[in-house]
Amino acid sequence: MRYTPCTATPRCVVTSDGIRTFDETREELEWHQHGHPRHPELGLWATVERETGKFLGRCGLLPWTIDGSLEVELAYMIAKDHWGLGLATEAAQGIVRYAREQLGRTRLICLITHGNVASTRVAEKVGMSYERDYTDEFGPCMIYSVAFGSTA
Ligand SMILES: CC(C)(COP(=O)(O)OP(=O)(O)OC[C@H]1O[C@@H](n2cnc3c(N)ncnc32)[C@H](O)[C@@H]1OP(=O)(O)O)[C@@H](O)C(=O)NCCC(=O)NCCS
Repeated sequence: MRYTPCTATPRCVVTSDGIRTFDETREELEWHQHGHPRHPELGLWATVERETGKFLGRCGLLPWTIDGSLEVELAYMIAKDHWGLGLATEAAQGIVRYAREQLGRTRLICLITHGNVASTRVAEKVGMSYERDYTDEFGPCMIYSVAFGSTA
C-alpha cells in the first residue's frame, strides 16, 4: 500500500490509485470490517490507543500477487498528529508477531514509495531490508522484505 506521505491523514489519504467511487468505497469498507474477501485472516485493522480507545490509524496485512506469487505486505498508517511517537513501530512489531505465530508466515514484505523515509525506518525496525525496485499498476516502489522460520 502506498501513500503520498506529506498529505496522508486517516480522513484524507491520497493513495496512488486515486479517489474511490461510492461502490469502491463500500467494497473496501466491507473487507475492512470482515477481512480480505479471499484471505479473511488478512486485512487493515483499526489501530487504537490502549488507554483511551482513540482511533489512531489503520495497520495490517495485505495480500498481493507479485510475479505470480502470493506476497503478504505489512501495511501501516498513523494519524499525522501522532507521528514520531513510535506507534507505527509498535503496531508493526505486533503484526509481525501475529503473522509469524498465528499465521505461520515465513516472509513479509513492505511496498514503499521512494523517499518515504518514515515508512522505510519502520520496515527496518521490524527487521526488513531493501530487496529490489518494483513497478506495478500504482507506479514504481521499493520492495523491503524479511524472512524468518515458521513458529506456528
Ligand atoms: C510511516 C508512518 C506510519 C510512520 O508512523 P510513526 O508512528 O510516526 O512511526 P514511528 O514513530 O514508529 O517511527 C519509526 C521511525 O521512523 C522515523 N520517522 C518518523 N517520521 C519520520 C520522518 N518524517 N522523517 C524521517 N524519519 C521519520 C522515526 O524517527 C523512527 O526511526 P528512529 O527510531 O530510527 O528514530 C507515518 O508516517 C504515516 O502514517 N505515514 C503516511 C502513511 C504511510 O506512508 N504509510 C506507509 C506506506 S508504505
